[in-house]
Amino acid sequence: MYMFQISSTEIHRMTCNFQPPKNPKFPSPTSNIQLLNSQLLLYLCALIMAKRKLQQFAEFKELDKTFDFPYDMKGKWKQDVFQNDNPLVLELGCGKGEYTVALSKQYPEKNFLGIDIKSNRMWRGALTAKELGITNAGFIRMIINNLTAIFDEAEVDEIWITFPDPFPKDRHAKHRLTSSTFLPLYKQVLKPGGVVNFKTDDTPLFEYSLEVLKEHNITPQEVNWDVHGNSDSHPHLREIRTYYENKFAAQGRTIKYLRFTF
Ligand SMILES: C[S@@+](CC[C@H](N)C(=O)[O-])C[C@H]1O[C@@H](n2cnc3c(N)ncnc32)[C@H](O)[C@@H]1O
Repeated sequence: MYMFQISSTEIHRMTCNFQPPKNPKFPSPTSNIQLLNSQLLLYLCALIMAKRKLQQFAEFKELDKTFDFPYDMKGKWKQDVFQNDNPLVLELGCGKGEYTVALSKQYPEKNFLGIDIKSNRMWRGALTAKELGITNAGFIRMIINNLTAIFDEAEVDEIWITFPDPFPKDRHAKHRLTSSTFLPLYKQVLKPGGVVNFKTDDTPLFEYSLEVLKEHNITPQEVNWDVHGNSDSHPHLREIRTYYENKFAAQGRTIKYLRFTF
């Protein structure tokens, strides 16, 4: 399909190995050629990656149980998509859908929907689900802020939020998936007693989330500051690990978990 494939590690290696001219005011002709070559290479790589993304966007739409801003599905997910009355579980900001796929394998008696704005990432999860013959998982491309336009009141049984972007700057706090922007949406779509599971490596985000829950008079059902080090936690919290979880744990960062209901 492509003339050649280049991984991001290779691009990094090639561009980082380039030595800039010693005296930038009077670059030698050779360094000018080197500079041109490296810029050309970068441009070529960006072009290949953009083409690959476009292809993944298109392929995502063709895969089973994938949806693009499905505003006509409100209240119909269990019956129309899964054709059963099993509990409906969402993973918000699912990225490549690793958690959604792993949970759907572990709990065939539940229905799972991974949600993210980036369908080129979810393409990976949807393709894996297809390859594994998983029928109880699907993926939705949408902005999580529109959750109540896509799910009816009390339509959802459980929510997972795994390793969301921490948005460390104060002025971006409203984008954090545990901020007051999102909690009312979760409350509306969750059935009474439905739980939100939240997993992160990011200590400030974890502390912030606990603070927001306090502001909303919510007492968490479980707060675990070290999932991998605490054998009391539910085994699947340790068994299911995404790319990010493995990466952060390898860096010596503790994985934190909290569960709450409204
Ligand atoms: C850091 S990644 C985590 C991916 C995955 N949960 C994991 O653990 O591998 C966060 C994901 O959340 C998505 N995201 C963040 N805010 C979002 C929003 N408001 N609506 C839709 N997707 C969002 C991003 O596109 C990104 O793919």
